[in-house]
Amino acid sequence: MSLLKLMIFLPVLMLSAFTGTADGYYTYGMSECVYSASDYSDMVYLVSYSFNKAVDLQYNSTVGKFVGSTEQGVKMAENFNNNPAYLQQRKAQVDGYCKHNAQVLDSAVRDKAVQPKISLKSVKQAGGSHPAVLMCSAYDFYPKKIKVSWLRNGKEETSDVTSTMELADGDWYYQIHSHLEYTPKSGEKISCVVEHASSTKPIITDWDPSLPEPERNKIAIGASGLVLGVIIAAAGLIYYKKKSSGRILVPN
Ligand SMILES: *[C@@H]1O[C@H](CO)[C@@H](O)[C@H](O)[C@H]1NC(C)=O
Repeated sequence: MSLLKLMIFLPVLMLSAFTGTADGYYTYGMSECVYSASDYSDMVYLVSYSFNKAVDLQYNSTVGKFVGSTEQGVKMAENFNNNPAYLQQRKAQVDGYCKHNAQVLDSAVRDKAVQPKISLKSVKQAGGSHPAVLMCSAYDFYPKKIKVSWLRNGKEETSDVTSTMELADGDWYYQIHSHLEYTPKSGEKISCVVEHASSTKPIITDWDPSLPEPERNKIAIGASGLVLGVIIAAAGLIYYKKKSSGRILVPN
């Protein structure tokens, strides 16, 4: 299980002074909140000040003071570190800024799990020596963490299973596709099992080996056409019978 790492970047101060047209100077400050525990017990507040591309100094709430990394930065760090009130204020940001914002963001985004839409279909029919392939797809789920597995007659099937990564759709949602290669046997039951934060129970989709959907549609359309044809033919026949019998009944 990979730790969920969330970082909040917030430019505190951005100041650019441009001289002339081409060259310029860029000085900026950045504050970050870094954590992975859901109770925020490992929350770290970082502040860094940079000039052009070089970081001059950084505050790390675990260290509790500023550390300079350039000649100028060392001097600035010394200044800040000699100001206990200022350091106290930085430290207070762990709760007042980081944990507060993390709570707001988590309830707005991270805790909003969206259940995947599952599609289970045959991508290759068995024939000759090659086995059949089923594809189980999960679409439009959030967050990213998901488990897709296969059951064959109630037992987890792990061999001949391949899966894509969780693919980002670019709109916060993800999709994933898992393939099962198998040699069909009559009477067996194959299911795709999806486990995700959006559902307390695994989402189980059973494979219906009868006929793939396009085939079913073709049969349905054909059957409707046949029924319609029979009705029209019957109507025509009844009409013809009535007409012809009507003629016969007319006395000479
Ligand atoms: C902050 O300081 C702690 C303790 O020295 C260190 O483990 C951690 O990596 C530092 N964080 C960053 C982002 O530099």
